[in-house]
Amino acid sequence: MKADVLLGLQWGDEGKGKVVDVLTSNYDVIARFQGGPNAGHSLEFNHIKHVLHTIPSGVFHKETINIIGNGVVIDPIIFSEEIEALSKIGVDLLTTLKISKKAHLILPSHRELDAASEAAKGKSKIGSTLKGIGPTYMDKTGRNGLRVGDIIRIDFKERYANLKNKHKDILKQYNYNSNIERHEDAWFKGVEMMKNFELIDSEVTINHMLDNGKRFLAEGAQGSLLDIDFGSYPYVTSSNTVCAGACTGLGIAPSRIGEVLGIFKAYCTRVGSGPFPTEQENAIGEEMRRIGAEFGATTGRPRRCGWLDLVALKYAIMLNGVTALIMTKADVLDTFDTIKVAISYKVNGQLTDTMPFEIDTPIEPIYKEFKGWKTDITKIKNENKLPEILIEYIRFIEIETGVPIKIVSVGPDRDATIIRK
Ligand code: GDP
Ligand code: IMO
Ligand code: MG
Repeated sequence: MKADVLLGLQWGDEGKGKVVDVLTSNYDVIARFQGGPNAGHSLEFNHIKHVLHTIPSGVFHKETINIIGNGVVIDPIIFSEEIEALSKIGVDLLTTLKISKKAHLILPSHRELDAASEAAKGKSKIGSTLKGIGPTYMDKTGRNGLRVGDIIRIDFKERYANLKNKHKDILKQYNYNSNIERHEDAWFKGVEMMKNFELIDSEVTINHMLDNGKRFLAEGAQGSLLDIDFGSYPYVTSSNTVCAGACTGLGIAPSRIGEVLGIFKAYCTRVGSGPFPTEQENAIGEEMRRIGAEFGATTGRPRRCGWLDLVALKYAIMLNGVTALIMTKADVLDTFDTIKVAISYKVNGQLTDTMPFEIDTPIEPIYKEFKGWKTDITKIKNENKLPEILIEYIRFIEIETGVPIKIVSVGPDRDATIIRK
C-alpha cells in the first residue's frame, strides 16, 4: 500500500482536522508527521467542537490507529492535557495511540526561549504561537535535543538538567526573566503519562503496516506557505510542512507516497506576522473573520483574512504534487456580492504569476471577479444542488490549477461535506 498525505496549501487553518476526521473511516492509520502544539485542528460532530494540538485527528474513530511521528515535537504538558480532555469524554487512546521514540520533546525552557526570542525581535517578531516550536527544532538540528525514547533512560533527569542549563545561559544573554521551574512538576507528570503509551520505532512500524496493506493517511500541520524552506521566510514555522515532510517525518520513502490531498479555504487567512498579498484590512476582511469565526484554535488571536490567491495556491500545489484538492469554507462567502481571486501579482511594475523571492516587497494582486452566489449552501449534501456560480468558481480553480476539487466542505460539522464524483 501507499501512504496518502493530507496537508494545508495556505498559511494553516484550512480545515485539516475536520476533513481528516471525515476521511478517517477510509483509513486504518492516521499519523502526524511534523509540527507540534502550535497546531490547532478542530473537528465537530453532534454539535460539539473538539480541538487537537499534538494528537492526530483520527482519534474519534475507535478502530483507527493514530501515530505521532518522529517529525513531530511534543510538549508533555500539552499532550497530557489533551489525553485527559479526551478521556473525560470517553475517548481512551491507551491501545490505539502510538508515539515515535524519535519525536523530540519540548522542554519548559524551550517555551521560555521562544518568548525571549520574540520579545527581542520587537516589531519584526514572527508572531509565534510561543509553544517552543522554533527552539525545539533548533536543538534537534543542532543535535542537542531530547527525544521521547530518552524518557525511559535512567539518566533522563540528568540529560534534562544539562539541556535546561544550556537554555538558562542563553536566556541570560537575552536578559530574559524566566521561571522554568514552575512548569517542571507538570512537565515530569506529563512525561510519566507518556510512558503509558506504546513508544515505537515508528518508521519500522509504519513500513510494516504499508507492507501489510494497511490504509494510511499522513496528516499535515500548518500549511505550505509556512514551510521552513518555501514559506515566506522568516515568517514561517520551523518544520517542512510540504509533502516531503511526510517522508522525513514518518520514514516513508517518496515512492511510497500515494494520493496527495491538498486543502485550501475558498478565501485566505493568516495568523501571526508576515506577507499576505491578498489581505483585506477592511470591512471585507472583517466580514470574513466574523462569518468564518476566524480566531486561532491555539492562541485565540484574530486571523487576518483576504481573497483566495491562485499564485500562492499553484505554488503550493507544485511543491506538494497535489493529486486532489479539497475546498473548505465556501459557505463563509454565501452572502458576498462579489468574490475576488488573485490570478497574478504586479511586483516592481512587472506582472508575474509565480511566487517571487521578494514576497516582502509591495505586491499588487491582479484579481478576477466573480458574482457572489448569494445562496445558503450549508445544508447542501449533493454537488448537483450547488449554485451554478459556485460551480463556475470551482471549475475556474480546477482549470487554473489542473487539479480536481474532490471535496467541498460547507460547514464545520462532519456532515457538512460534499464528496464530488
Ligand atoms: P486546521 O488547523 O486546518 O485543522 O483548521 P482549524 O481547525 O484551525 O480552523 C478551521 C476552522 O474552520 C475550525 O473552526 C473549523 O471548525 C472550521 N471549519 C472547517 N471547515 C469548515 C467549513 O467548510 N465551513 C465553515 N464555516 N467552517 C469550517
Ligand atoms: P494548524 O496546524 C496557523 C504560525 C504562527 C506564526 C508562525 C510561526 O492549526 O494549521 P510557531 O509557533 O510555529 O513558531 O509560529 O506560524 N502558525 C500557524 N498558523 N495554523 C497553524 O497550525 C500554525 N502553526 C504555526 O501564527 O505566524
Ligand atoms: Mg488550526
